[in-house]
Amino acid sequence: MTREFASVGVVGLGTMGAGIVEVFARNGIDVVAVEVTEAALERGRATLTGSTDRAVAKGKLAAADRDALLARVSWQVGLAALHAVDLVIEAIPEQLDLKQRIFAELDRVCKPEAVLATNTSSLSVTEISVATTRPNQVIGIHFFNPAPVMKLVEIVRTVVTSAEVVADVERLCARLGKVDVTISDRAGFIANALLFGYLNHAVSLVEARYASREDIDAAMKLGCGLPMGPLALMDLIGLDTAYEILDTMYRRGGRDRRHAPVPLIKQMVTAGLLGRKSGRGFYTYERPGSPVVVPDDQTPVSEESTLEARARGTAKVGVVGSGTMATGIIEVFAKAGYEVVSVTRGAEKSAKLFEAVKTSLNKGVVRGKLGEADRDAALGRITWSATLEHLADVDLVVEAVIEELSVKKALFASLDEICKPGVVLATTTSSLPVIDVAMATQRPADVVGLHFFNPAPVMSLVEIVQTIRTSAETTATAKAVCGELGKTGVVCGDRSGFIVNALLFPYLNDAVKMLEASYSTADDIDHAMKLGCGYPMGPFELLDVVGLDVSLAIQRELYLELREPGFSPAPLLEHLVTAGYLGRKTGRGFRDHTRR
Ligand SMILES: NC(=O)c1ccc[n+]([C@@H]2O[C@H](COP(=O)([O-])OP(=O)(O)OC[C@H]3O[C@@H](n4cnc5c(N)ncnc54)[C@H](O)[C@@H]3O)[C@@H](O)[C@H]2O)c1
Repeated sequence: MTREFASVGVVGLGTMGAGIVEVFARNGIDVVAVEVTEAALERGRATLTGSTDRAVAKGKLAAADRDALLARVSWQVGLAALHAVDLVIEAIPEQLDLKQRIFAELDRVCKPEAVLATNTSSLSVTEISVATTRPNQVIGIHFFNPAPVMKLVEIVRTVVTSAEVVADVERLCARLGKVDVTISDRAGFIANALLFGYLNHAVSLVEARYASREDIDAAMKLGCGLPMGPLALMDLIGLDTAYEILDTMYRRGGRDRRHAPVPLIKQMVTAGLLGRKSGRGFYTYERPGSPVVVPDDQTPVSEESTLEARARGTAKVGVVGSGTMATGIIEVFAKAGYEVVSVTRGAEKSAKLFEAVKTSLNKGVVRGKLGEADRDAALGRITWSATLEHLADVDLVVEAVIEELSVKKALFASLDEICKPGVVLATTTSSLPVIDVAMATQRPADVVGLHFFNPAPVMSLVEIVQTIRTSAETTATAKAVCGELGKTGVVCGDRSGFIVNALLFPYLNDAVKMLEASYSTADDIDHAMKLGCGYPMGPFELLDVVGLDVSLAIQRELYLELREPGFSPAPLLEHLVTAGYLGRKTGRGFRDHTRR
């Protein structure tokens, strides 16, 4: 006999509960919405009316449908109101004893055939289920924030959840227009197990003043295409909830230090800085519950004018190298109006490079993004040389040669001899310590990292890496140049992986470890991150694109520098690389790719 779930109860109407009420009511299901106090009930009701009013204003919901939706919800204080519902979803705070108490009471109040579900993110559904006399009818239904928007639902089946209950809930999710993945009861399930180590790591970077909140968030949005940065996401999740999730994952998930909540989170929770819901977290919001960020004392002030005052004028730029990055970087500078001196190791290389830059500019013309005259002007601004001496009078040198420290050091030593005083010397290294390169010169204060992303003409992010010797003036110049190029320059310290790779690759590595442990499939893990967190690609799709060898090399660097046990490369990743399965470029990685 399959259950139809004609009416459901939602317990706890905070960040998640109010959204879950909306999901059901939108899909024609009657909802009994329950809170502890009248005031909390009112808050939940206001969240729902606010959300549905916005949908009407945006033309996404007809006014009559909103009224019908609201009429399906009955608002009640106390669990007794749930005696007749077919399914209850609990969304109260992430504390085991609290949830166990509520489930014991739900078990007494609800009819015997009712299914009891928890929206927990990290607690054991099994431990919650044994507080009832019907553990076979207890299941995890884990929605994502915001529930009406995010498509994914993780269905968590314990060892005793009955197969019919799982099947009925899967059918219900389809009816709600959601995509489900059904998994077993492990801390953090799929998405949070992969997400929270990353979020905690991002907070640790803020705590260490490695980079600003704005720069970390911009880096992950622009560098990885994520819908929001990690700190804005912490604010959306709620710092109290995030703290509880991390703490539980630490205790349940093998005491991985990366899940031990960074002390700053606890301090912020104690101080009442809970994120959007309290109006202040990592950012400050217009009012509690509002998504609108307002300036506060950490907001960078009138950056433009201070930058101009400190930055050195830059008109002529040298670019050393002839590979993919050099090609893109030359194009970017020439298009932005800089005079560019390109230096390669020989006339033949210069000729090839000229062709590559011309081809790329022509593509812009064909796509209608660049006029022919602008293309010709850009090309006219570039001089092609095979002699470093031609860099004697440039204002900025961007080095983009092979990723080998000895080569870069020798080059910087030569630049030091050749270039005029006051030049800014930049390296595009993505993995070597910038300070090593800087110390090959007599002027480390003028050396900075300028980490462009590939393809440089398309990607708007540049990581500006300042070493402990980089002067404020050099950093300001680098920032001003990025602005002139129409790029977003984010400033960070000189640590392996800078911001983006340091936060991205451990997450990818964790996904491989999850696959290796047979917790889920590559498809479901990719789905979970795309539909639950809005990522443009799942981890395995991305690994295949980036290349497994490249990913392994980056992960090894991170591990060697930070000695964080959790960063140790996944054995499966090492084996695939050894086997020559490097991703798209070899036709096989985590998946098969037909070669064209
Ligand atoms: N915040 C997220 O992004 C997110 C995402 C998915 C799942 N979750 C999970 O959802 C659950 C709720 O988290 P949240 O972020 O919505 O928390 P929240 O703090 O925003 O809301 C919890 C609500 O529960 C109410 N409540 C407390 N005790 C109650 C009781 N005995 N009866 C009825 N209501 C009670 C509180 O008044 C509050 O309104 C947690 O298990 C959390 O891990 C959270």
